[in-house]
Amino acid sequence: MVEFERIKLEFVDNIAVLTLNRPEKLNALDSKTRTELLQAVEEVENRARVLIITGSGKAFAAGADIGELSKRNPLDCIESAKLGTRLFTKIEEMDIPSIAAINGYALGGGCELAMACDIRVASKKAKFGQPEINIGIIPGAGGTQRLPRLVGVGMAKKLVLTGEIISAEEAYRIGLVDELVDEDKLMDRAMEIARRICEKSPIAVAFAKRALNSSNSMNLHDGLEYELSLFSILFSTEDAKEGMNAFLEKRKPEFRGR
Ligand code: COA
Repeated sequence: MVEFERIKLEFVDNIAVLTLNRPEKLNALDSKTRTELLQAVEEVENRARVLIITGSGKAFAAGADIGELSKRNPLDCIESAKLGTRLFTKIEEMDIPSIAAINGYALGGGCELAMACDIRVASKKAKFGQPEINIGIIPGAGGTQRLPRLVGVGMAKKLVLTGEIISAEEAYRIGLVDELVDEDKLMDRAMEIARRICEKSPIAVAFAKRALNSSNSMNLHDGLEYELSLFSILFSTEDAKEGMNAFLEKRKPEFRGR
């Protein structure tokens, strides 16, 4: 397996746990971290059924590395944004689901990384925000696009325009976080959700994720057509037959991903 400097990648059964591991800089996402993240995510897609992303220390990730940002010209920005977009789009579009287990600060790119994941579980100690405006810029890795889709345009404008940092409770209230847990229960709960997903047919999981993602880009009519085509294709899988037979025979299904 590839050795990383800024992140840790572990496998528990078929669950990959990716930990941002630069705690002395609050896991700020410099280009090395983002390059390693992309490498890790590409490796994980073929080896695991679910990806969990978390952070070490008191942050999930405190955003892009401001030291690096301060030296950038516009062309560097475009190159760097390409990497960020590739990474976040990969997480969002890969067939296996991802869970952000948000342990602490999720600011700027950290909040954007969490939003690229499929499910967000947060510790009650976590904090969220898009504070880029405080340093004279705006979010550059999806903050103005994914945030309004999760919390509505008004709330997204409030957060992006004020740069305000909000509590985990507030993030949960506005729908930025799907579940809130005590700090010491965070990884257990993320693993529990991951295990629950691993029990399902991986093809059905992948298709469900694709159909749900399409709700962001398709109108209702096209989305319903797309859902129907994925739904009907699943009837050709052994897993669908197994799932229905298991129900009728009152036993647990054994899905094989076929
Ligand atoms: N980029 C680079 N370094 C960062 C960073 C970032 N986004 N966020 C934190 N760090 C570094 C600090 O510079 C400090 O390094 P040092 O010890 O070498 O000086 C270290 O991480 C610890 O951070 P510190 O600010 O001392 O911790 P704190 O608990 O007092 O404050 C925050 C925590 C999150 C409120 C504060 O670090 C912060 O505002 N960070 C920037 C958040 C941000 O604007 N993100 C969006 C960037 S576009």
